[in-house]
Amino acid sequence: MLKLGIFDSGIGGLTVYRAIRDGIHGVPIHYLGDTARVPYGTKSAETVVRYSRQIASHLVDSGADTIVVACNTATAYALEPLRDFLTVPVFGVIEPGARAAVRTTRNGIVGVIGTRGTVLSGAYQQAISALDKSVKITAVSCPLFVPLVEEGWLDEEVTYRIAGRYLKPLLEKDVDTLVLGCTHYPLLKEVISRVMGKGVTLIDSARETALDVSSHTAQSPPTPVKKNQPDHFEVTDSPSRFTEVGKIFLGRELQDVSLVALEH
Ligand code: DGL
Repeated sequence: MLKLGIFDSGIGGLTVYRAIRDGIHGVPIHYLGDTARVPYGTKSAETVVRYSRQIASHLVDSGADTIVVACNTATAYALEPLRDFLTVPVFGVIEPGARAAVRTTRNGIVGVIGTRGTVLSGAYQQAISALDKSVKITAVSCPLFVPLVEEGWLDEEVTYRIAGRYLKPLLEKDVDTLVLGCTHYPLLKEVISRVMGKGVTLIDSARETALDVSSHTAQSPPTPVKKNQPDHFEVTDSPSRFTEVGKIFLGRELQDVSLVALEH
């Protein structure tokens, strides 16, 4: 029996949920978005680890037997603590993204963009260097990208201008591969790609993670899922905002979103 528990600081993890859902059938998913405490990208490692432990415990207590940390910041800070703390397999988004970047680069110059927390943690830089020490890495945080996506400003002039400013150091370093190291950034692919130019390959960590999770589920016995059984979504703040912004991420209205209290 397999049940995936996926969590994120809020709504952005729906990019990972979507990639997993598109690739894996017959496995129920329980998604939790910590919308009351988002963003994680500006918080300390201690806080993000504490939140992540609470959420992962809740998902396991609710029957999940595999955890996917769909948030880059939570992966950066809490993946190892969660692996020590839990007895079920825990997947993160950084290692798969790093692997794809190393596989893709031709000139050995890779860029990483993410939240302040992800960039400061050095998690992508370490993961890439562990795979290939010769790769040169430039990491830049792009904090305004998250609110721009949640506002639905995916193709506005201001978005291009902000992207132009954030991405300038990466253009100057001549990166040929750029890791989208934040849940929200795949929605800005068009903008980022136009600013970076055709020669730069964008790595979508969500897609890469889904491939990892899919090979894990393929090795487990199939779960008898009731036909059309909907996935279960929980949030720690009002479900209505999650449902509304969720449409930007999924292109459809989410059903069955419930409020959950984690701190007792
Ligand atoms: N989900 C976060 C990440 O991928 C972005 C939003 C936040 O800062 O919490 O890093």
